[in-house]
Amino acid sequence: MSHENVERIIQEVSRDYHINGSLSPLVLRRIVELHGAVDAQRTAETGCGLTTLVFSNLSADHTSFADGSGDSLPNTQAHPYFNAAAARFVVGPSQTTLPHHIFDGPLDLVLLDGPHAYPFPNLEYYYFYPWLRQGGILVIDDVHIPTIGNLYDFLREDEMWAHLGDVETTAFFQRTEAPTHPPHGDDWPMQRYNRRHFPYQAALVPIYGEGWHEREFGGAAALSVTDGGLPSFNPSPELGALLDAQAAQRERLRANSFKHQLREERLAFQAGARALNSRVVQLHAIVRKLRAEKLAAETRATEAERRVDGIKKANEFKADQGTTNRGPSRWLSSLLRRPHS
Ligand SMILES: C[S@@+](CC[C@H](N)C(=O)[O-])C[C@H]1O[C@@H](n2cnc3c(N)ncnc32)[C@H](O)[C@@H]1O
Repeated sequence: MSHENVERIIQEVSRDYHINGSLSPLVLRRIVELHGAVDAQRTAETGCGLTTLVFSNLSADHTSFADGSGDSLPNTQAHPYFNAAAARFVVGPSQTTLPHHIFDGPLDLVLLDGPHAYPFPNLEYYYFYPWLRQGGILVIDDVHIPTIGNLYDFLREDEMWAHLGDVETTAFFQRTEAPTHPPHGDDWPMQRYNRRHFPYQAALVPIYGEGWHEREFGGAAALSVTDGGLPSFNPSPELGALLDAQAAQRERLRANSFKHQLREERLAFQAGARALNSRVVQLHAIVRKLRAEKLAAETRATEAERRVDGIKKANEFKADQGTTNRGPSRWLSSLLRRPHS
């Protein structure tokens, strides 16, 4: 563990040292603070980058589920502040690696910052929550993305979590002492969010008794999920500006990487075209050679035919000569056949 390294990472390492962009110093500091507060030893995250550098210097055993796309994995592994002794990577999409992963024991802190599209963070949450110990910390980045905002809304009301607040667009939760929701069961009314926003309160009276909703949530809390509206994450104007700047920065990085990719593709295409050209030249040479061979073969065939013709004619001539010159004449033959008198 090296807190000095962590401080250097936060201060010195650029947030765009990999293409996908990293958590800000403020968010990293909050992670470090909570990591210390719960004495985290075994930690895990989806995605890798600056946070992996930090965790590899803070945790005794850190696992990063990284799909290996882009440059975050090689840049992290090659970074001088990366402490390989305390970190391991599970390479591949978390959608396929996490379901089969067995940790060595309960987790003290988990960060979800891998794939961001629906339903992947939810899927990751499903595979992580049974592993998080009571008092453990769950960090979810980018809760301003609407579908991640839905997960955030759910967790803020769930009995298993205490919402510790947000830094920029990263949310922090702590596992309460509430029993773990059975991962292989169902029981949706056991979940506070579902009870609170359930539009047909009367249907749950047989389970919770008359006036259950009023008792648990009070009249004002009886919101309906059908109310719709904006996700509950409402950034301040300053944070809004920061988010816009971040988005523009990500867009620039993405455009650069796209340009780079186009250039690579153009070079590959040009190399392909050159290879094709030289193959065409080779094929022309082969065609020329074959034509010459065909011509030679035809000349030889004509020559051979001419010779065969000559031989045939000579034979016919000889045959003709044979019929006229060979053997006795008819007159002589008749004389020879006559008996001697
Ligand atoms: C926003 S970056 C993570 C940033 C990192 N926490 C940091 O602070 O630098 C997202 C990361 O998730 C990875 N990623 C994207 N889709 C993934 C997936 N399906 N499974 C695992 N990792 C994924 C990307 O390669 C990238 O490393």
